[in-house]
Amino acid sequence: MSDPKQKLMELLSPVVSGLERMRGVLASELHEPSPVVQDMIDHVGRFQGKQLRGGMVLLMGEATGNSTDEHPTIAAIVEMIHMATLVHDDILDGAEVRRRVACLNQRWNNQVAVLLGDYLYSRAFALSTHLSSRLTSRLLAETTRTICVGEIEQSALRYDFDLTQESYERIAGAKTGSLYAAACELGARYPGGNEVLGGQMRKFGYEIGLAFQIVDDCLDLAGDAKVVGKSVGTDVEDGKVTLPVLHVYSSSNEAGRAAIRDVFTLPDLEERTLKLRDVCDLDTGIERSMDYAQELVERARARLLSLPASPAVDALHVLGDFVLKRKW
Ligand code: IPE
Ligand code: IPE
Ligand code: MG
Ligand code: MG
Repeated sequence: MSDPKQKLMELLSPVVSGLERMRGVLASELHEPSPVVQDMIDHVGRFQGKQLRGGMVLLMGEATGNSTDEHPTIAAIVEMIHMATLVHDDILDGAEVRRRVACLNQRWNNQVAVLLGDYLYSRAFALSTHLSSRLTSRLLAETTRTICVGEIEQSALRYDFDLTQESYERIAGAKTGSLYAAACELGARYPGGNEVLGGQMRKFGYEIGLAFQIVDDCLDLAGDAKVVGKSVGTDVEDGKVTLPVLHVYSSSNEAGRAAIRDVFTLPDLEERTLKLRDVCDLDTGIERSMDYAQELVERARARLLSLPASPAVDALHVLGDFVLKRKW
């Protein structure tokens, strides 16, 4: 099997020059005279993420014949917002490692990490005001609001084993699906363009994003931290009842359910995720969740059928496989 990073590069090859421009925008925007702030910015940028959301702005632009000279800047803005959400998310989750290095909240502390997250949001929105259309500012402001709502609801519903699949999806869709959705809509219709097509591609992004989060939640339970490159096992530690757990919980008898609740809640337990494996059939929950992620990817792909064949459309198809098979 070829290296997954290689796979990702191949997948993004139809937009390689746009990605280079996007990275150029990120490098030139994220500069600050204050050495301590620059140090934090350098730390965040030290290890590049997958840049999937930025890549999707560009692929969608190509796939719909809607690319403009401003698309790489939009892709950079989307990636900056994504980075800001990660910085804040790691504080909420008490995470230790992100992109193979210490999280800002660990290397520095929660207080300044909150502010660096705010800083990244403000730089992203400041940059969006330079664009010729307000669509990017409007959609991404709305998306940021949605992400905040998703993260707050998730926090409020920790340890809630009566969570329905519908509520889980609403939260995962808000915190993750929404940014993928916005990336695809902007790619397909910025600066204004075809709203119907934009809405269709928005749904594509939402479904891919929801599948991405479901896979992420499976990796948190079963992934290898060294491969994933970030802290795993934090969902159980933090009381997040994710889809695989919901599945096993709902198919367990009362004794099984009590055992699952105990693993989440008994004080001073170590290695809760490993212990969870001992008290329930976690693999079945993961399998069911992965089947659903696959279904979402298929649903998303069907939305591409209206687009004329092109390397970018092919790449968006392959992206579905990448999301399902990813181990990082
Ligand atoms: C991590 O997203 C946050 C989730 C929505 C699960 P990515 O896995 O795309 O993060 P990077 O940018 O590649 O590090
Ligand atoms: C995604 O949820 C958070 C955001 C959308 C910011 P997670 O908490 O599962 O993301 P990771 O696992 O920390 O990357
Ligand atoms: Mg997290
Ligand atoms: Mg996660």
